[in-house]
Amino acid sequence: MSKLILAVESSCDETACAISQDGRKILSDVVVSQAELHARYGGVVPEIASRKHIETISQAAEQAVAQAGISFSHLDGVAATCAPGLIGALLVGANFAKGLAMSLDRPFIPVHHIRGHVAANYVAFPQLTPPLTALVASGGHTVILDVTGYTDLEVLGASRDDAAGEAFDKIARVLGLPYPGGAAMDALAQKGDSNRYSLPPAIIRESDYDFSFSGLKTAALNLLHNAQQKGQEICREDLAAAVSQTVAQSVVFRVIAAAKARGRKQIAAAGGVAANSFLRKMLKKECLQAGLDLYLPPLALCGDNGSMIACQAFYELESGNVGDLSQNCFATLPASQNVCRWQGSF
Ligand code: KG4
Ligand code: ZN
Repeated sequence: MSKLILAVESSCDETACAISQDGRKILSDVVVSQAELHARYGGVVPEIASRKHIETISQAAEQAVAQAGISFSHLDGVAATCAPGLIGALLVGANFAKGLAMSLDRPFIPVHHIRGHVAANYVAFPQLTPPLTALVASGGHTVILDVTGYTDLEVLGASRDDAAGEAFDKIARVLGLPYPGGAAMDALAQKGDSNRYSLPPAIIRESDYDFSFSGLKTAALNLLHNAQQKGQEICREDLAAAVSQTVAQSVVFRVIAAAKARGRKQIAAAGGVAANSFLRKMLKKECLQAGLDLYLPPLALCGDNGSMIACQAFYELESGNVGDLSQNCFATLPASQNVCRWQGSF
């Protein structure tokens, strides 16, 4: 008997609903982006995000069910991202999913957002199975994971301050690009010379796999401000290229080192920043050189979406990771933790 799961993703500024069949087959995928709404503020405003999720969620779920050609009663489970993310935004999706699960008398499946990003690769590549090394780089996280099973993940390293996407977005803002600036900066960087400006690598030297993107962000902003004060022009394309190249260099060698250290043969990248063309190019080149198989999801599966959560939810359900109606959401939680069993605080 095949399993149909409706998943809700509302951890940030996308209201997404998708339906998976036995995990990897996606029957429908609906994403309602709020980006335009937040653009005028230059970043996501959490309260506005929560309110917009409330307005959108029912319709998005109905659309997902209609697109899949099924009715709610056919569902075998209802899932929602419960951590990490903006707490108010997470609660909207989780409470909607809990209510729906209860009304249908089906299990409620809490999903970890980072695990979901990894699962985007299972959707894109039907043959891919753990073990593998994963790089998740998004607006909120930059993490290297050792993935030994669908629900067994170990965090090997992470950013200690800003995420890669956050650095892209802040620098893009000062370059006059609209929010979220990562993709626009990528486009600008295509026309630039990445060697003109030198920026500090986004790594923690005393650690094998940890990152720090705040130094890179500050260095790029200082370069711009110093030039402005002296009345000099900065070449925006060259700076965008230097930032992209530095981010790529910082993460690629660390994720390859992590794969080698754990004896993994496969690397999977995910998250909004995995759409970055410099990062994709360098990963391809270096993985080929290192003899590692590389998995890069198509751009639509890199950023936040419901399919990745619907896929991961299947594996969580298989592992018995279901929640009850007292299930809470958490703004931060390592991907090694099962969301449904997490009781405490840090
Ligand atoms: O995974 P995602 O959609 O949301 C989070 O979980 O945070 O990632 C969004 C982030 C934003 O910071 C956005 O600017 C960045 O991914 N991003 C990019 C590119 N496309 C999206 N960053 C660099 N290059 C891109 N092409
Ligand atoms: Zn994400």
